[in-house]
Amino acid sequence: MITPWEVEGVVDYQKLIEEFGITPFTDLLRSIPSPHRLMRRGVVFGHRDYWRILEAMKKGKDFSVMSGFMPSGDIHFGHKMTMDEIIWHQKMGATAFVAIADIEAHLVRGISWEKTREIGMGYVKSIIALGLEKDSFIYFQSKNDKVKNLALELSSEVNFNEIRSIYGFVGETQIARAIVSLIQSADILQPQLEEFGGSKPVVVPVGADQDPHLRLTRDLAARMNLFSLEKIEGGMRIRSKKNEMLTKIEKLGFEFRRFSGHLDIFGDPEKIEKAVRTLEMELGSYAFVPPSSIYHKFTTGLTGGKMSSSKPESYISLFEKPENAVKKIKNALTGGRNTAEEQRRLGGEPWKCVIFELYTYHLIESDDELSRIKEDCECGKILCGACKKIAEEILLEFLKSHKEKSDAVESILDEFTIIS
Ligand code: TRP
Ligand code: SF4
Repeated sequence: MITPWEVEGVVDYQKLIEEFGITPFTDLLRSIPSPHRLMRRGVVFGHRDYWRILEAMKKGKDFSVMSGFMPSGDIHFGHKMTMDEIIWHQKMGATAFVAIADIEAHLVRGISWEKTREIGMGYVKSIIALGLEKDSFIYFQSKNDKVKNLALELSSEVNFNEIRSIYGFVGETQIARAIVSLIQSADILQPQLEEFGGSKPVVVPVGADQDPHLRLTRDLAARMNLFSLEKIEGGMRIRSKKNEMLTKIEKLGFEFRRFSGHLDIFGDPEKIEKAVRTLEMELGSYAFVPPSSIYHKFTTGLTGGKMSSSKPESYISLFEKPENAVKKIKNALTGGRNTAEEQRRLGGEPWKCVIFELYTYHLIESDDELSRIKEDCECGKILCGACKKIAEEILLEFLKSHKEKSDAVESILDEFTIIS
């Protein structure tokens, strides 16, 4: 069962792809200029409409990356994954939007406003320490009127049946859940508001548990617009909630055929979409392109099972004390065998090993180095004790540097745009 609130049991990514219509990421990998390590290694396993982002990257067009973090506890390597993805897209030319979901943490998790602020500022410092640059817009949801107002507007377009079927809401579900979902949709659509340059591709890097939010937001994006577009042979079919507005489309200069409820226009679909979105903005309407998304795999808890912020032994915080980090690595579940003799003979099983997962997701950038460890493990050349020692060294180095960088961020914080 996967909803934004619970992930139970072993996750079958193939099934997620088949059931929800997420597209496998491998299909696109070859067309990405210099893919991020999480992409190369299949950690990013799926996407929706990522072609929009690739196209914008290649043609140097305006695009954004946006994701959000709920300030409900220690910041750990699960958060770092999303932060790394935001930063990578920013390097590839995107304007970055970072939401600190304090409304969600307060309304759904019951964290005090004071606490959400303190935790949230820690996240902000971390993402900057990890490499986020100034061409970005960071905000606490509760302090962002544009997002809150947009969420109100969105509420007119959704009914109870719909959120029940998307999120599994029941009669007892608090209204807060629905509010928080609409605020998240507003987070995702905000980069396309006029103030931020209007209509543009936006990619949302998230864990697969957030996909329901994306499905809802993509539907809402279409409903808020004046015109809807559907690909047809040789062009696009255009409909409008205000039928009389279709005459405006006729004046765009494309070849067209008029029908009673829609208009078919012919030409390059990309050019048509651009012209229609521009017209919408001129007419003072929203002109949302459906947001794209990429999905990364869940991070395994250090002792197996799922990682949970309510179980400190299941994760390593980005601000973990060195002695605790060492202890957690020592206790971590590996893919090692029962005895050293057996492991030398049969080799380890890195695909079951959280240390190997840590290498793959975070600690080792070089693919060659990662393959070497994998081979050494599989052929029994290296044993878990020695292997953990290597992980420990890289990890301690990272933690030290992260602490130093985060402290240093303090003095440049006011150079960033932060609505807090
Ligand atoms: N709901 C997300 C979580 O629990 C946080 C979040 C808030 C978010 N707004 C967002 C994620 C916008 C992606 C995009 O982690
Ligand atoms: Fe994991 Fe390393 Fe042990 Fe292999 S040798 S199972 S990678 S800890």
